[in-house]
Amino acid sequence: MTNAYDMAYTRAQDEPEAFWAEAAREIDWYKTWDKVLDDSNPPFYRWFLGAECNTCFNALDRHVKAGRGEQAALIYDSPVTNNTKRTYTYNQLLNEVSLFAGVLRKEGVGRGDRVIIYMPMVPEAAIAMLACARLGAIHSVVFGGFASNELAVRIDDAKPTAIISATCGVEVNKVINYMPLLNGAIDLAKHKPSVCIILARPEAEAELKEGRDIDWASAMLMAEPAKCVPVAATDPLYILYTSGTTGQPKGVVRDNGGHMVALKWSMSAIYDCNPGDVYWAASDVGWVVGHSYIVYAPLINGCTTVLYEGKPVGTPDAGAFWRMISEYDIKVLFTAPTAFRAIKREDPAGALLANYDMSSFKSLFLAGERLDPDTLQWAQEKLKVPVIDHWWQTETGWSIAANCLGLHALPIKAGSPTKAAPGWDVSVVNDEGENVPNGQIGSIVIKLPMPPAALPTLWEKDEIFIEKYMVDFPGYYNTADAGMIDDDGYLYIMARTDDIINVAGHRLSTGGIEEVLADHPDVAECAVIGVADQLKGQLPIGFLVLNAGTQTSEDAIIADTVAMVRERIGAVAAYKTAVVVERLPKTRSGKILRSTMQKIADQEDYSMPATIDDPLILGEMDEALQSIGYSKARA
Ligand code: COA
Ligand code: AMP
Repeated sequence: MTNAYDMAYTRAQDEPEAFWAEAAREIDWYKTWDKVLDDSNPPFYRWFLGAECNTCFNALDRHVKAGRGEQAALIYDSPVTNNTKRTYTYNQLLNEVSLFAGVLRKEGVGRGDRVIIYMPMVPEAAIAMLACARLGAIHSVVFGGFASNELAVRIDDAKPTAIISATCGVEVNKVINYMPLLNGAIDLAKHKPSVCIILARPEAEAELKEGRDIDWASAMLMAEPAKCVPVAATDPLYILYTSGTTGQPKGVVRDNGGHMVALKWSMSAIYDCNPGDVYWAASDVGWVVGHSYIVYAPLINGCTTVLYEGKPVGTPDAGAFWRMISEYDIKVLFTAPTAFRAIKREDPAGALLANYDMSSFKSLFLAGERLDPDTLQWAQEKLKVPVIDHWWQTETGWSIAANCLGLHALPIKAGSPTKAAPGWDVSVVNDEGENVPNGQIGSIVIKLPMPPAALPTLWEKDEIFIEKYMVDFPGYYNTADAGMIDDDGYLYIMARTDDIINVAGHRLSTGGIEEVLADHPDVAECAVIGVADQLKGQLPIGFLVLNAGTQTSEDAIIADTVAMVRERIGAVAAYKTAVVVERLPKTRSGKILRSTMQKIADQEDYSMPATIDDPLILGEMDEALQSIGYSKARA
């Protein structure tokens, strides 16, 4: 036993119930559990069975009771709206959340009801989430960059009583009107919410629909504050939809009790953050990082959290993050590598750093996609603080692998998110589920049961939960990431084993994009792959096989598909490039060889698939890719 990390890891392995019960002492419960881990119905595991709690109480009320009322709870900084800045103390945030919970309660929202939150990065988004938690209602935040169709799919799956939205989102140089997107989604959806609560932002006016919409500010004026409703620890706190292998997203469920326990523990053990510290996750509340580390974990831990409505560059320059750190004495920043690639591209020498006092800053955490060694090295050199890559997924809620700075900092190895965090039993296996030797690539799996906060199931889809995650390797959760473990136990995450690609830290399904392209009347067949991109990590490109005899020009068809993806999925998909081909490379059984196409595009070595239908087609792919600036002729 050499250090606190090793000790914690071993204890969590050997005595998981004792380990997590001890961590659970940091949470206030109305009633403690009858059983720490209910493992009576695998693979459905439940943490803290029989316990009652409220997540909002732990995020707000108890800090006020403990004397933190005048400490800043949430700082809002918005360079895209003329540098709006607002700070909420714990007292103020509790007041706003209680009142908004009163608004929801008056509109008939109660324990177990679903509420969709489709909002930009404004404090009211966090207020709405916490208000749902206060009532025991289940929120489902939909990222503001998703278009009507994606929102409609989520409305039909979650069947919300209420939708909370705003008149607009604000991007660097454009205002995105939300009302047409919201109205379009409600028109498309079969399920209709009984009420929409709309936050009016000065950047865009909107007409409210009589009988359906109410204005946030007017409702707050009339509201009576609502108290916390005790819920079962195993009750869902939220549903967060994430890309699956089709256009149908998966509704990842998060419980209340286990989630609080794991997140609170992670704040000190992984991020080395104490109550009172300022913690900033530069992400979006629409993603899991935003749920866990903009809203819940920092507040549950009594920290000050930061909600930033801006970009790493262009708002106004590549010094934006340094300005934030110095202005608010930020101790820890968590973002995606793509943000740092953007900063590095604009200010390679890091010259803008000289304008800011960075003395509060202690560590940078990156996740969401692979951290390339160049970006790691640049950040280490310029910032002179530990730069920590950590690996996790929407499904897990917190990191599976990390360098636990609050326990014991391990040496950093480029390309690795270090070792499995306490609670996670990670192995790399072959297709038969056998462990592969160190250094060899395989599927990364996690032995069941997973620690608290990992998804207990998919929303109302237990059978899909089993099918997607549990059947390939019985007794294990299949992460759908491939990678390896080295001789020191360090993990390396190399690629997805499914059709998910990662565009600027956003998880997208190429299958979902293909479903849109296939709907074009002139497209007979199509494939989408993710190609390497210096800024965004990956970008989707489309291969279109057209119907014989089509009269429309290829350029027009490509432009149509670009518009369709923007319209149906959203601008975040960043689908802007496609090429028309005669045919697609397939196996003899008709499976499209997407991974071979991707290797050609990225100029990686590949072996000729043994089952390929016609080997000559790979040359055609190479030419097609060259015509749009990818790949290169092979000798
Ligand atoms: N609402 C509406 N539209 C949105 C949106 C939102 N919330 N977020 C992004 N978009 C739009 C953008 O305006 C852009 O539209 P465009 O094609 O008309 O220009 C498109 O979606 C792509 O956006 P984005 O992925 O943000 O790319 P970008 O080129 O504007 O910026 C980065 C690139 C690297 C600066 C940006 O991706 C970034 O800041 N990433 C930070 C990492 C991050 O937040 N990761 C999340 C997980 S931790
Ligand atoms: P999301 O569910 O959107 O958080 O995306 C999860 C996926 O992002 C993972 O399955 C990985 O493929 C990828 N990912 C997240 N963090 C890392 C990381 N640190 N290194 C490599 N890939 C990562």
